[in-house]
Amino acid sequence: MTPPAPSSAQGVFGSRLPLAERYAAFLAGDGVLRGLIGPREVPRLWERHLVNCAVLAEAVPDQAAVVDIGTGAGLPGIVLAILRSDLRVTLVEPLLRRTSFLEEAVEGLGLDNCEVRRARAEELHGEATFDVVTSRAVAPLPRLLAWSMPLVAAGGALLAMKGSRAGEEIDGARAELRALGCADPEVLFLGSGAPAFLDPPTRVVRVVRRHEHVRG
Ligand SMILES: C[S@@+](CC[C@H](N)C(=O)[O-])C[C@H]1O[C@@H](n2cnc3c(N)ncnc32)[C@H](O)[C@@H]1O
Repeated sequence: MTPPAPSSAQGVFGSRLPLAERYAAFLAGDGVLRGLIGPREVPRLWERHLVNCAVLAEAVPDQAAVVDIGTGAGLPGIVLAILRSDLRVTLVEPLLRRTSFLEEAVEGLGLDNCEVRRARAEELHGEATFDVVTSRAVAPLPRLLAWSMPLVAAGGALLAMKGSRAGEEIDGARAELRALGCADPEVLFLGSGAPAFLDPPTRVVRVVRRHEHVRG
C-alpha cells in the first residue's frame, strides 16, 4: 500500500501533490511488481525518493531543457516534470523493461512536458544538448562526467545527486574535470530548510560546462 504523503511532501509539491501521489501509487504498485523498485523502498518512498528528488528543482533554472540519464523508474526526472510544468524533461534509460514502465507512467500521469528515450547516455553525444543534465545513483563521478558533460549546453550544468562522499568523488575526478573543460564543481545541500526539511539534505554535485568544445 502507498504510504500517505508526509508534511514535507505537502510543502515541496504544493498544488502538484495529487499528481505526485498518483506517481507514488504507480511506483508502489506496478513499480514493485515489475521489479523497478524494491518492496523495502515502499515505506520510505516519500522521504528517500520523491521528496529527496523534488528538492533538486531548486537548482534547475526556469524553462530549462533537462535530460535525466539513467532515470530507472523516473527518479529524479518524473518528479521534476510533475513539479515544474515549465521544464521540458527527457528521460534516458537503456533498458526496455524500464522504458515501458516510464512510457506508461508519463502517459498515465498526463505529463506533456516529458518524453522517454531508450538509449545509453553516450549514444546521444553529438545529437542533442540540454541546459541541465541530472542523474541519481547512476555511476561514479568520473564516468558520469564522461557520459553527461557532452550533453550539457555551453553555460549549462550537470546536477548529480550524490551521497556523503561527494567531496571525495570530486577529488577523484580532477583529471576528467580538466579534460572536459568543466568549471570548479560545487556541492549543493538542498532541502535543508522550508518547504521540505530533509535530514540529511540532498547532496548534489553541480558542474557548469565552461567551454564551447568538450571532448567526448
Ligand atoms: C541504480 S539505477 C538508478 C535509477 C534512478 N536514477 C534512481 O535513482 O532510482 C541506475 C540506472 O542507470 C541506467 N544506466 C546504466 N548505464 C547507463 C548509461 N550508459 N546511460 C544511461 N543510463 C544508464 C541503468 O539501466 C539503471 O536504470
